[in-house]
Amino acid sequence: MLLNLGNIKIHIEKDFSTACELGANIIKEKLSKKPNSVIGFATGGTPIPMYKHLIEMCNHQEINFSEMVTFNLDEYFPISKENDQSYYYFMRENLFNHINVNFDNLHIPNGLASDVEKECADYENLIKTLGPIDLQILGMGLNGHIGFNEPDNKFTQGTNYVALQESTITANARFFNSIDDVPKKALTMGIKTIMMSTEILLLVNGEKKADILEQALFGEISPHVPASALQLHQNVTILADESAVANILKRF
Ligand code: GLP
Repeated sequence: MLLNLGNIKIHIEKDFSTACELGANIIKEKLSKKPNSVIGFATGGTPIPMYKHLIEMCNHQEINFSEMVTFNLDEYFPISKENDQSYYYFMRENLFNHINVNFDNLHIPNGLASDVEKECADYENLIKTLGPIDLQILGMGLNGHIGFNEPDNKFTQGTNYVALQESTITANARFFNSIDDVPKKALTMGIKTIMMSTEILLLVNGEKKADILEQALFGEISPHVPASALQLHQNVTILADESAVANILKRF
């Protein structure tokens, strides 16, 4: 089912894997029209089924990643690339090691940069130089964060160094041995960086995200719900399962 809100289109599928297949096809189409498309990638549990579809398509030679340029949204700080909870490791494990990418074209903020402010400025400049990002993939945190842009009194601008909120540390602790191992800070593209992308693909799954998704799309546009900024973007596609849009469907 497709809900068309003008600048935001919501594809709703019973099964989230079907929604993710649609997402993989959107990426495939982008790369077939423009092989050197700049794609912004996201981590978290939500996009994993879409990455599985992309790997499968690549195995069947239905998609070509050889010229794709990528920028990941964020990285914990401090964290080494070898740490299996780093987003660097996550992306290789869940996607990049299994597709025909050129590793020179992949960009993820450096979780061990000696000068974090410089790392953020350099990352932002590189996005400006190689961008714009043609398609930015997003997940969303339970508090409405996108990338690692936490609820705050103002929207972030460019790539920045942030402190994670307790709720995010708790939510992400499921991937670590203990909550004490979760880094307390991160480097993330800012809301403005994300908003500069030509097109955005937001993946949302499960009833636990239903309230925050409704707030993000129908509530006040506020930095207290960072994803609400997407209401101001011209081209957003949301891929969701039925439970994630349960509240939204009641509005129609
Ligand atoms: C992390 C990432 C976000 C992601 C969020 C949601 O905090 N920095 O980019 O969207 O988790 O994760 P999940 O998809 O596992 O719910």
